[in-house]
Amino acid sequence: MAKIIIIGAGGVGNVVSHKCAKLPEIFTDIVLASRTLSKYEAIAKDVLNKTGITIRTAVIDADDVATTTQFLQAESPKLLINVALPYQDLALMNACLNAGVNYLDTANYEPPEEAKFEYKWQWAYQNRFKDAGLIALLGCGFDPGVTNVFCAYAQKHLFDQIETIDILDANAGDHGYHFATNFNPEINIREITAKGRYWEEGHWKEVEPMSVHQVYDFPVLGKQDVYLLYHEEMESLCKNIPGLKRIRFWMTFSKKYLSYLKVLENVGMTSIDAINFKGQKIQPIEFLKAVLPNPASLGARTKGKTCIGCDITGSKGGEKKRILIYNSCDHQECYKEVSSQAISYTTGVPAMIGAQMVLKGLWKDPGVWNMEQHDPDPFMQELMQHGLPWQAAEIPLE
Ligand SMILES: NC(=O)c1ccc[n+]([C@@H]2O[C@H](COP(=O)([O-])OP(=O)(O)OC[C@H]3O[C@@H](n4cnc5c(N)ncnc54)[C@H](OP(=O)(O)O)[C@@H]3O)[C@@H](O)[C@H]2O)c1
Repeated sequence: MAKIIIIGAGGVGNVVSHKCAKLPEIFTDIVLASRTLSKYEAIAKDVLNKTGITIRTAVIDADDVATTTQFLQAESPKLLINVALPYQDLALMNACLNAGVNYLDTANYEPPEEAKFEYKWQWAYQNRFKDAGLIALLGCGFDPGVTNVFCAYAQKHLFDQIETIDILDANAGDHGYHFATNFNPEINIREITAKGRYWEEGHWKEVEPMSVHQVYDFPVLGKQDVYLLYHEEMESLCKNIPGLKRIRFWMTFSKKYLSYLKVLENVGMTSIDAINFKGQKIQPIEFLKAVLPNPASLGARTKGKTCIGCDITGSKGGEKKRILIYNSCDHQECYKEVSSQAISYTTGVPAMIGAQMVLKGLWKDPGVWNMEQHDPDPFMQELMQHGLPWQAAEIPLE
Protein backbone atom coordinates (compact mmCIF):
# COMPACT_ATOMS: atom_id res chain seq x y z
CA MET A 1 0.00 0.00 0.00
CA ALA A 2 2.70 2.58 0.92
CA LYS A 3 6.22 3.44 1.92
CA ILE A 4 6.96 4.59 5.49
CA ILE A 5 10.02 6.02 7.19
CA ILE A 6 10.62 5.23 10.85
CA ILE A 7 12.94 7.67 12.64
CA GLY A 8 14.61 6.34 15.82
CA ALA A 9 16.13 2.91 16.42
CA GLY A 10 15.55 2.60 20.17
CA GLY A 11 13.20 0.31 22.07
CA VAL A 12 10.06 1.70 20.40
CA GLY A 13 11.63 1.92 16.93
CA ASN A 14 12.45 -1.79 17.24
CA VAL A 15 8.80 -2.71 17.93
CA VAL A 16 7.39 -0.46 15.18
CA SER A 17 9.84 -2.00 12.69
CA HIS A 18 8.86 -5.59 13.62
CA LYS A 19 5.13 -4.90 13.66
CA CYS A 20 5.10 -3.04 10.33
CA ALA A 21 7.23 -5.75 8.70
CA LYS A 22 4.54 -8.29 9.71
CA LEU A 23 2.05 -6.48 7.46
CA PRO A 24 3.84 -6.31 4.08
CA GLU A 25 0.57 -5.78 2.21
CA ILE A 26 0.13 -2.44 4.04
CA PHE A 27 3.72 -1.36 4.69
CA THR A 28 5.19 -2.23 1.31
CA ASP A 29 8.51 -0.45 1.84
CA ILE A 30 10.02 0.32 5.26
CA VAL A 31 13.04 2.53 5.88
CA LEU A 32 14.47 2.76 9.40
CA ALA A 33 16.62 5.86 9.90
CA SER A 34 18.51 6.84 13.02
CA ARG A 35 21.81 8.17 14.31
CA THR A 36 23.71 5.03 15.31
CA LEU A 37 24.47 2.47 12.60
CA SER A 38 24.94 -0.50 14.96
CA LYS A 39 21.47 -0.02 16.49
CA TYR A 40 19.47 0.17 13.28
CA GLU A 41 21.44 -2.62 11.66
CA ALA A 42 20.74 -4.91 14.64
CA ILE A 43 17.01 -4.18 14.34
CA ALA A 44 16.98 -4.80 10.58
CA LYS A 45 18.79 -8.12 11.11
CA ASP A 46 16.33 -9.27 13.77
CA VAL A 47 13.35 -8.22 11.63
CA LEU A 48 14.76 -10.23 8.70
CA ASN A 49 15.28 -13.30 10.93
CA LYS A 50 11.82 -13.12 12.44
CA THR A 51 9.71 -12.07 9.44
CA GLY A 52 11.79 -12.66 6.29
CA ILE A 53 11.25 -8.98 5.39
CA THR A 54 14.15 -6.70 4.53
CA ILE A 55 13.82 -3.20 5.89
CA ARG A 56 16.18 -0.60 4.49
CA THR A 57 18.25 1.54 6.84
CA ALA A 58 19.73 5.03 6.65
CA VAL A 59 21.70 7.36 8.85
CA ILE A 60 19.99 10.62 9.75
CA ASP A 61 20.35 13.44 12.26
CA ALA A 62 16.73 14.39 12.74
CA ASP A 63 17.70 17.75 14.28
CA ASP A 64 19.04 18.80 10.87
CA VAL A 65 15.88 19.94 9.03
CA ALA A 66 17.57 20.65 5.68
CA THR A 67 19.20 17.21 5.39
CA THR A 68 16.08 15.42 6.65
CA THR A 69 13.99 17.33 4.09
CA GLN A 70 16.31 16.22 1.27
CA PHE A 71 16.19 12.65 2.55
CA LEU A 72 12.37 12.70 2.62
CA GLN A 73 12.18 14.27 -0.83
CA ALA A 74 14.45 11.55 -2.21
CA GLU A 75 12.56 8.69 -0.52
CA SER A 76 9.08 10.21 -0.93
CA PRO A 77 7.28 8.14 1.76
CA LYS A 78 3.57 8.50 2.52
CA LEU A 79 4.20 8.79 6.28
CA LEU A 80 7.02 9.45 8.73
CA ILE A 81 6.78 7.68 12.12
CA ASN A 82 8.78 9.66 14.66
CA VAL A 83 9.97 7.40 17.47
CA ALA A 84 13.17 9.34 18.13
CA LEU A 85 12.98 11.63 21.16
CA PRO A 86 10.48 14.43 21.90
CA TYR A 87 13.27 16.97 21.21
CA GLN A 88 13.07 16.07 17.49
CA ASP A 89 9.29 16.61 17.06
CA LEU A 90 9.34 20.15 15.66
CA ALA A 91 12.34 19.56 13.39
CA LEU A 92 10.64 16.49 11.94
CA MET A 93 7.30 18.28 11.53
CA ASN A 94 9.13 21.02 9.61
CA ALA A 95 10.88 18.49 7.38
CA CYS A 96 7.55 16.70 6.72
CA LEU A 97 5.91 19.99 5.70
CA ASN A 98 8.84 20.83 3.41
CA ALA A 99 8.69 17.41 1.73
CA GLY A 100 4.90 16.87 1.72
CA VAL A 101 4.92 13.84 4.07
CA ASN A 102 2.32 12.90 6.73
CA TYR A 103 3.64 12.79 10.32
CA LEU A 104 3.03 10.65 13.43
CA ASP A 105 4.69 10.67 16.87
CA THR A 106 4.25 9.16 20.34
CA ALA A 107 5.34 11.97 22.68
CA ASN A 108 4.85 15.73 22.63
CA TYR A 109 7.59 18.26 22.00
CA GLU A 110 9.89 19.09 24.87
CA PRO A 111 12.59 21.77 24.62
CA PRO A 112 15.94 20.14 25.53
CA GLU A 113 16.92 22.98 27.84
CA GLU A 114 13.71 22.97 29.88
CA ALA A 115 11.96 19.95 31.48
CA LYS A 116 8.54 20.97 30.24
CA PHE A 117 6.24 19.31 27.76
CA GLU A 118 3.19 20.95 26.27
CA TYR A 119 1.17 20.62 23.08
CA LYS A 120 1.20 24.36 22.32
CA TRP A 121 4.28 24.15 20.10
CA GLN A 122 2.82 21.35 17.97
CA TRP A 123 -0.77 22.64 17.95
CA ALA A 124 0.65 25.83 16.43
CA TYR A 125 1.28 23.81 13.22
CA GLN A 126 -2.48 23.20 12.69
CA ASN A 127 -2.95 25.59 9.76
CA ARG A 128 0.31 24.67 8.06
CA PHE A 129 -0.61 20.96 7.97
CA LYS A 130 -4.20 21.73 6.97
CA ASP A 131 -3.10 24.02 4.14
CA ALA A 132 -0.59 21.42 2.93
CA GLY A 133 -3.31 18.72 2.93
CA LEU A 134 -1.24 16.64 5.37
CA ILE A 135 -2.09 14.93 8.64
CA ALA A 136 -0.01 15.08 11.83
CA LEU A 137 -1.09 12.52 14.41
CA LEU A 138 0.21 13.39 17.88
CA GLY A 139 0.82 11.06 20.81
CA CYS A 140 0.13 7.71 19.11
CA GLY A 141 1.66 5.39 21.73
CA PHE A 142 -0.17 3.81 24.67
CA ASP A 143 -0.27 6.74 27.08
CA PRO A 144 -0.71 9.09 25.34
CA GLY A 145 -2.35 7.22 22.51
CA VAL A 146 -4.48 4.21 23.36
CA THR A 147 -5.64 5.93 26.57
CA ASN A 148 -7.02 8.81 24.45
CA VAL A 149 -8.74 6.30 22.14
CA PHE A 150 -10.23 4.48 25.17
CA CYS A 151 -11.75 7.82 26.28
CA ALA A 152 -13.13 8.51 22.78
CA TYR A 153 -14.61 4.99 22.69
CA ALA A 154 -16.21 5.50 26.13
CA GLN A 155 -17.62 8.83 24.96
CA LYS A 156 -19.03 7.28 21.76
CA HIS A 157 -20.46 4.01 23.12
CA LEU A 158 -20.50 3.74 26.91
CA PHE A 159 -21.55 7.12 28.34
CA ASP A 160 -23.90 10.00 27.49
CA GLN A 161 -21.86 12.17 29.84
CA ILE A 162 -18.36 11.50 31.15
CA GLU A 163 -17.63 13.17 34.49
CA THR A 164 -14.22 11.93 35.64
CA ILE A 165 -11.29 10.09 34.08
CA ASP A 166 -8.44 8.45 35.99
CA ILE A 167 -5.73 7.09 33.70
CA LEU A 168 -3.81 4.30 35.44
CA ASP A 169 -0.48 2.94 34.25
CA ALA A 170 0.86 -0.10 36.13
CA ASN A 171 4.02 -2.01 35.38
CA ALA A 172 4.45 -5.04 37.64
CA GLY A 173 7.46 -6.26 35.63
CA ASP A 174 10.77 -7.09 37.30
CA HIS A 175 14.09 -6.81 35.41
CA GLY A 176 16.27 -7.75 38.37
CA TYR A 177 18.38 -4.55 38.33
CA HIS A 178 18.54 -2.27 41.39
CA PHE A 179 17.50 0.69 39.26
CA ALA A 180 16.66 1.03 35.57
CA THR A 181 14.02 2.87 33.56
CA ASN A 182 11.81 1.09 31.06
CA PHE A 183 12.18 3.69 28.36
CA ASN A 184 14.65 6.47 27.64
CA PRO A 185 16.00 7.30 31.16
CA GLU A 186 16.41 11.01 30.47
CA ILE A 187 12.82 11.46 29.25
CA ASN A 188 11.45 9.19 31.98
CA ILE A 189 13.27 10.89 34.88
CA ARG A 190 12.47 14.39 33.60
CA GLU A 191 8.80 13.36 33.58
CA ILE A 192 8.61 11.90 37.08
CA THR A 193 10.74 14.44 38.94
CA ALA A 194 8.49 17.27 37.72
CA LYS A 195 5.57 18.54 39.85
CA GLY A 196 2.35 16.51 39.65
CA ARG A 197 -0.66 18.20 38.05
CA TYR A 198 -4.27 17.33 37.47
CA TRP A 199 -7.27 19.14 36.00
CA GLU A 200 -10.50 19.82 37.92
CA GLU A 201 -13.49 22.08 37.23
CA GLY A 202 -11.64 23.97 34.49
CA HIS A 203 -8.37 24.54 36.39
CA TRP A 204 -4.97 22.87 36.67
CA LYS A 205 -3.94 21.97 40.23
CA GLU A 206 -0.30 21.40 41.10
CA VAL A 207 1.13 19.04 43.74
CA GLU A 208 4.69 18.25 44.85
CA PRO A 209 6.33 15.35 42.92
CA MET A 210 5.09 11.92 44.15
CA SER A 211 3.15 13.51 47.04
CA VAL A 212 -0.31 12.11 46.13
CA HIS A 213 -0.67 8.37 46.34
CA GLN A 214 -3.38 5.67 46.47
CA VAL A 215 -3.65 1.89 46.33
CA TYR A 216 -5.54 0.78 43.19
CA ASP A 217 -6.89 -2.72 42.67
CA PHE A 218 -5.90 -3.58 39.07
CA PRO A 219 -7.34 -6.47 37.06
CA VAL A 220 -4.65 -9.15 36.51
CA LEU A 221 -2.13 -7.46 38.85
CA GLY A 222 -4.15 -6.88 42.06
CA LYS A 223 -3.43 -4.02 44.47
CA GLN A 224 -0.63 -1.64 43.46
CA ASP A 225 0.73 1.67 44.79
CA VAL A 226 0.03 4.44 42.27
CA TYR A 227 1.28 8.04 42.32
CA LEU A 228 -0.28 11.11 40.74
CA LEU A 229 1.80 12.54 37.87
CA TYR A 230 1.30 15.09 35.14
CA HIS A 231 0.93 13.38 31.78
CA GLU A 232 0.44 14.96 28.38
CA GLU A 233 -2.81 13.30 27.26
CA MET A 234 -4.69 15.21 29.97
CA GLU A 235 -3.97 18.48 28.14
CA SER A 236 -5.95 17.45 25.06
CA LEU A 237 -8.56 15.26 26.78
CA CYS A 238 -9.71 18.07 29.09
CA LYS A 239 -10.47 20.09 25.93
CA ASN A 240 -11.94 17.31 23.80
CA ILE A 241 -14.22 15.44 26.26
CA PRO A 242 -17.18 17.80 26.68
CA GLY A 243 -18.46 18.38 30.22
CA LEU A 244 -15.50 16.62 31.86
CA LYS A 245 -15.16 17.57 35.53
CA ARG A 246 -11.82 16.03 36.49
CA ILE A 247 -8.93 14.14 34.91
CA ARG A 248 -5.92 12.66 36.70
CA PHE A 249 -3.03 10.37 35.76
CA TRP A 250 -1.50 7.71 38.03
CA MET A 251 1.57 5.50 37.64
CA THR A 252 2.95 2.63 39.73
CA PHE A 253 6.40 2.88 41.30
CA SER A 254 7.95 0.49 43.79
CA LYS A 255 9.26 1.87 47.09
CA LYS A 256 12.75 0.73 46.00
CA TYR A 257 12.56 2.68 42.72
CA LEU A 258 11.44 5.82 44.53
CA SER A 259 14.25 5.55 47.13
CA TYR A 260 16.91 5.29 44.40
CA LEU A 261 15.36 8.18 42.54
CA LYS A 262 15.30 10.34 45.70
CA VAL A 263 19.01 9.70 46.33
CA LEU A 264 19.92 10.46 42.70
CA GLU A 265 17.87 13.65 42.89
CA ASN A 266 19.36 14.72 46.23
CA VAL A 267 22.93 14.38 44.95
CA GLY A 268 22.11 16.32 41.78
CA MET A 269 22.31 13.45 39.28
CA THR A 270 18.88 14.12 37.76
CA SER A 271 19.59 17.79 37.03
CA ILE A 272 19.44 19.10 33.45
CA ASP A 273 21.68 22.08 34.34
CA ALA A 274 25.09 21.52 32.73
CA ILE A 275 28.16 21.43 35.00
CA ASN A 276 31.85 21.77 34.17
CA PHE A 277 33.68 18.47 34.46
CA LYS A 278 37.39 18.33 33.58
CA GLY A 279 36.98 21.21 31.16
CA GLN A 280 33.87 19.73 29.55
CA LYS A 281 30.23 20.75 29.95
CA ILE A 282 28.06 17.79 30.92
CA GLN A 283 24.42 17.47 31.92
CA PRO A 284 24.18 15.21 35.01
CA ILE A 285 21.02 13.47 33.73
CA GLU A 286 22.70 12.71 30.38
CA PHE A 287 25.63 11.19 32.22
CA LEU A 288 23.23 9.18 34.39
CA LYS A 289 21.59 7.85 31.22
CA ALA A 290 24.99 6.65 30.04
CA VAL A 291 25.60 4.57 33.20
CA LEU A 292 22.09 3.13 33.59
CA PRO A 293 21.10 -0.07 31.76
CA ASN A 294 19.97 0.57 28.20
CA PRO A 295 16.16 0.09 28.21
CA ALA A 296 16.47 -1.94 25.01
CA SER A 297 18.55 -4.48 26.97
CA LEU A 298 15.84 -5.08 29.60
CA GLY A 299 13.61 -7.18 27.37
CA ALA A 300 15.25 -10.54 27.89
CA ARG A 301 15.27 -10.21 31.70
CA THR A 302 11.91 -8.57 32.43
CA LYS A 303 9.21 -10.84 33.79
CA GLY A 304 5.65 -9.97 34.78
CA LYS A 305 2.81 -7.95 33.33
CA THR A 306 1.60 -4.43 32.70
CA CYS A 307 -1.93 -3.08 32.99
CA ILE A 308 -2.86 0.34 31.60
CA GLY A 309 -6.36 1.72 31.42
CA CYS A 310 -8.92 4.45 31.96
CA ASP A 311 -11.24 4.35 34.98
CA ILE A 312 -14.17 6.50 33.87
CA THR A 313 -17.30 7.66 35.71
CA GLY A 314 -20.37 9.35 34.26
CA SER A 315 -23.90 8.51 33.23
CA LYS A 316 -25.77 6.60 30.54
CA GLY A 317 -29.55 6.70 30.10
CA GLY A 318 -29.87 8.67 33.33
CA GLU A 319 -27.97 6.00 35.34
CA LYS A 320 -24.61 6.67 37.00
CA LYS A 321 -21.89 4.21 36.02
CA ARG A 322 -18.17 3.48 36.32
CA ILE A 323 -16.13 1.55 33.74
CA LEU A 324 -12.48 0.53 33.48
CA ILE A 325 -11.20 0.04 29.91
CA TYR A 326 -7.79 -1.61 29.99
CA ASN A 327 -5.14 -3.79 28.39
CA SER A 328 -2.71 -6.10 30.15
CA CYS A 329 0.51 -7.20 28.49
CA ASP A 330 3.06 -9.87 29.40
CA HIS A 331 6.73 -8.82 29.17
CA GLN A 332 8.03 -12.26 28.20
CA GLU A 333 5.42 -12.80 25.50
CA CYS A 334 6.34 -9.44 23.96
CA TYR A 335 9.99 -10.40 24.08
CA LYS A 336 9.31 -13.69 22.30
CA GLU A 337 7.45 -11.90 19.53
CA VAL A 338 9.58 -8.79 18.87
CA SER A 339 12.67 -8.97 21.17
CA SER A 340 11.36 -6.21 23.42
CA GLN A 341 9.76 -5.73 26.85
CA ALA A 342 6.13 -4.66 27.17
CA ILE A 343 6.74 -0.91 27.66
CA SER A 344 8.24 -0.48 24.19
CA TYR A 345 5.70 -3.00 22.84
CA THR A 346 2.68 -1.10 24.18
CA THR A 347 4.06 2.07 22.54
CA GLY A 348 5.18 0.60 19.23
CA VAL A 349 2.02 -1.37 18.42
CA PRO A 350 -0.27 1.72 18.61
CA ALA A 351 2.19 3.67 16.45
CA MET A 352 1.91 0.93 13.81
CA ILE A 353 -1.91 0.96 14.10
CA GLY A 354 -2.02 4.78 13.85
CA ALA A 355 0.11 4.49 10.70
CA GLN A 356 -2.49 2.06 9.29
CA MET A 357 -5.30 4.53 10.06
CA VAL A 358 -3.48 7.18 7.98
CA LEU A 359 -2.37 4.89 5.11
CA LYS A 360 -5.82 3.31 4.75
CA GLY A 361 -7.45 6.77 4.80
CA LEU A 362 -9.60 5.83 7.81
CA TRP A 363 -8.31 8.95 9.59
CA LYS A 364 -7.76 11.45 6.84
CA ASP A 365 -8.67 15.05 7.67
CA PRO A 366 -5.63 17.27 7.11
CA GLY A 367 -4.39 19.07 10.23
CA VAL A 368 -2.73 18.38 13.58
CA TRP A 369 -4.76 15.96 15.71
CA ASN A 370 -4.74 14.24 19.07
CA MET A 371 -5.91 10.66 19.10
CA GLU A 372 -9.35 11.19 20.67
CA GLN A 373 -10.32 13.49 17.79
CA HIS A 374 -10.83 10.53 15.41
CA ASP A 375 -13.33 7.69 15.20
CA PRO A 376 -12.04 5.22 17.84
CA ASP A 377 -13.74 2.12 16.35
CA PRO A 378 -11.26 1.03 13.64
CA PHE A 379 -8.33 1.63 16.01
CA MET A 380 -9.98 -0.38 18.81
CA GLN A 381 -10.55 -3.27 16.36
CA GLU A 382 -6.91 -3.28 15.30
CA LEU A 383 -5.73 -3.35 18.94
CA MET A 384 -7.54 -6.70 19.28
CA GLN A 385 -5.74 -8.08 16.19
CA HIS A 386 -2.19 -6.95 16.91
CA GLY A 387 -1.33 -7.96 20.46
CA LEU A 388 -3.09 -5.38 22.65
CA PRO A 389 -6.53 -6.88 23.38
CA TRP A 390 -8.65 -4.69 25.65
CA GLN A 391 -11.61 -5.14 27.97
CA ALA A 392 -14.26 -2.79 29.34
CA ALA A 393 -15.25 -3.87 32.86
CA GLU A 394 -18.10 -2.32 34.81
CA ILE A 395 -17.05 -1.42 38.38
CA PRO A 396 -19.78 -1.25 41.05
CA LEU A 397 -20.38 2.30 42.27
CA GLU A 398 -19.53 2.89 45.96
N1 LIG B 1 3.23 7.36 24.30
C1 LIG B 1 3.80 6.39 24.96
O1 LIG B 1 3.11 5.50 25.48
C2 LIG B 1 5.29 6.32 25.07
C3 LIG B 1 5.87 5.37 25.95
C4 LIG B 1 7.26 5.21 25.94
C5 LIG B 1 8.05 6.03 25.12
N2 LIG B 1 7.45 6.96 24.32
C6 LIG B 1 8.27 7.83 23.45
O2 LIG B 1 8.82 7.00 22.41
C7 LIG B 1 10.00 7.62 21.91
C8 LIG B 1 11.10 6.57 21.78
O3 LIG B 1 11.37 6.00 23.05
P1 LIG B 1 12.49 4.86 23.23
O4 LIG B 1 12.27 4.26 24.55
O5 LIG B 1 12.52 4.01 22.01
O6 LIG B 1 13.81 5.77 23.29
P2 LIG B 1 15.31 5.31 22.99
O7 LIG B 1 15.45 3.85 23.22
O8 LIG B 1 16.18 6.28 23.70
O9 LIG B 1 15.44 5.55 21.40
C9 LIG B 1 15.46 6.81 20.83
C10 LIG B 1 16.06 6.67 19.46
O10 LIG B 1 16.02 7.96 18.82
C11 LIG B 1 17.30 8.18 18.23
N3 LIG B 1 17.60 9.61 18.15
C12 LIG B 1 17.76 10.49 19.15
N4 LIG B 1 18.08 11.69 18.67
C13 LIG B 1 18.11 11.57 17.31
C14 LIG B 1 18.39 12.44 16.25
N5 LIG B 1 18.71 13.73 16.47
N6 LIG B 1 18.34 11.96 14.99
C15 LIG B 1 18.02 10.67 14.74
N7 LIG B 1 17.76 9.78 15.72
C16 LIG B 1 17.80 10.22 16.97
C17 LIG B 1 18.27 7.52 19.18
O11 LIG B 1 19.49 7.37 18.51
P3 LIG B 1 20.83 6.92 19.30
O12 LIG B 1 20.67 5.44 19.40
O13 LIG B 1 21.92 7.35 18.41
O14 LIG B 1 20.80 7.64 20.61
C18 LIG B 1 17.52 6.23 19.47
O15 LIG B 1 17.72 5.29 18.44
C19 LIG B 1 10.33 8.75 22.89
O16 LIG B 1 9.89 9.95 22.34
C20 LIG B 1 9.49 8.42 24.11
O17 LIG B 1 9.14 9.58 24.85
C21 LIG B 1 6.09 7.11 24.27
